Amino acid sequence: MVDGLGRNIDYIRVSVTDRCQLRCVYCMPEEGVPSLTHQEILRFDEITRLCALFAQMGVRKVKVTGGEPLCRKGLPHLIQQLKAIPGIDQVTLTTNGVELARSWDALCQAGLDGVNISLDTLDRDLYTRLTRRDRLSDALEGIRLAAASGQIPVKVNCVPMTREQLLWDVAELARDLPVHVRFIEMMPVGLGRDFLSIPAAKTRAVLEEHFGPLSPAEGPTGNGPAEYCLLPGFRGRIGFISALSHKFCQDCNRVRLTATGFLKTCLQFSHGADLREPLRAGATDQDLLARMAAAIRAKPSAHHFDGPFTQEDERRNMSQIGG
Ligand code: GTP
Ligand code: 5AD
Ligand code: SF4
Repeated sequence: MVDGLGRNIDYIRVSVTDRCQLRCVYCMPEEGVPSLTHQEILRFDEITRLCALFAQMGVRKVKVTGGEPLCRKGLPHLIQQLKAIPGIDQVTLTTNGVELARSWDALCQAGLDGVNISLDTLDRDLYTRLTRRDRLSDALEGIRLAAASGQIPVKVNCVPMTREQLLWDVAELARDLPVHVRFIEMMPVGLGRDFLSIPAAKTRAVLEEHFGPLSPAEGPTGNGPAEYCLLPGFRGRIGFISALSHKFCQDCNRVRLTATGFLKTCLQFSHGADLREPLRAGATDQDLLARMAAAIRAKPSAHHFDGPFTQEDERRNMSQIGG
């Protein structure tokens, strides 16, 4: 479907839970966020019905997110159901990786098409401070296992915050393993507002100081806004997701479905439509399709991350949106 500004919306990010085993400082507070109840979150059959309707509207790719999506029991079943929807070509997952090893075989059997794993540092103490949990070795086990299986593309997501993260060490993963490593500018959403966003150009300069020049890579490496570069001798690419320094909203191809069934049309704004209430009140497909279409037509043109916080801005944390 085409939105009000002519952008083709063919990708949806579906958050399946707000829970997580970690408490990353820019995503979730240590305490004080009540988890959604069982009743509040969409059931798998509800997610699948909505995604089938999104597919009718032209969505071709589904990204499953959280919180941490693997906190949702039986996730491989959902992946399998999403893969079976006519029109859906690709179902991928974004995870913190700490419990990936446990579900890996089931996810592959379900037909998962790709996995993105978050890892902000290879320093155990810093990882423990940034995530408030001592689980670096589990996250690394997830990355190594996914990379070694060679079955589907694997990407690592790193959000630069401090020089202590030793970003070149994280980039090195792409030398040793067949994974793409992407550096993401911190976005002022939720707790991210309390952090300085390090511009991609600065991260790139730090990497070039260490490795020498990065050269641009040709062709797409995913469906998202990342731009990719090559380093000699590296198996994977180095990517940058620069929502602030290189605004990509004019090419935005996506909407989001929260765990509570809210169709969210832009990361920064609270705009969108509740689909859960009509869904549970017995709405017809036509009715749901009309609500979806109206919300997508009114999708905001762009973020204003560089401006002050406004009444229309998203108040939820990233764990409630799915990044
Ligand atoms: P693939 O490369 O196709 O796997 O997709 P992706 O990069 O969109 O997926 P991922 O879930 O790994 O997201 C990486 C980062 O990009 C996260 O920090 C997201 O918040 C950010 N991101 C994804 N989509 C958008 C978007 O529409 N707008 C903005 N501003 N950031 C986004
Ligand atoms: N800015 C940029 N990226 C963020 N993520 C979570 N919060 C933010 C933020 N405020 C990243 C996570 C994960 C991905 C889904 O989003 O590190 O890799
Ligand atoms: Fe799309 Fe909004 Fe992200 Fe811009 S900020 S790329 S419009 S979701």
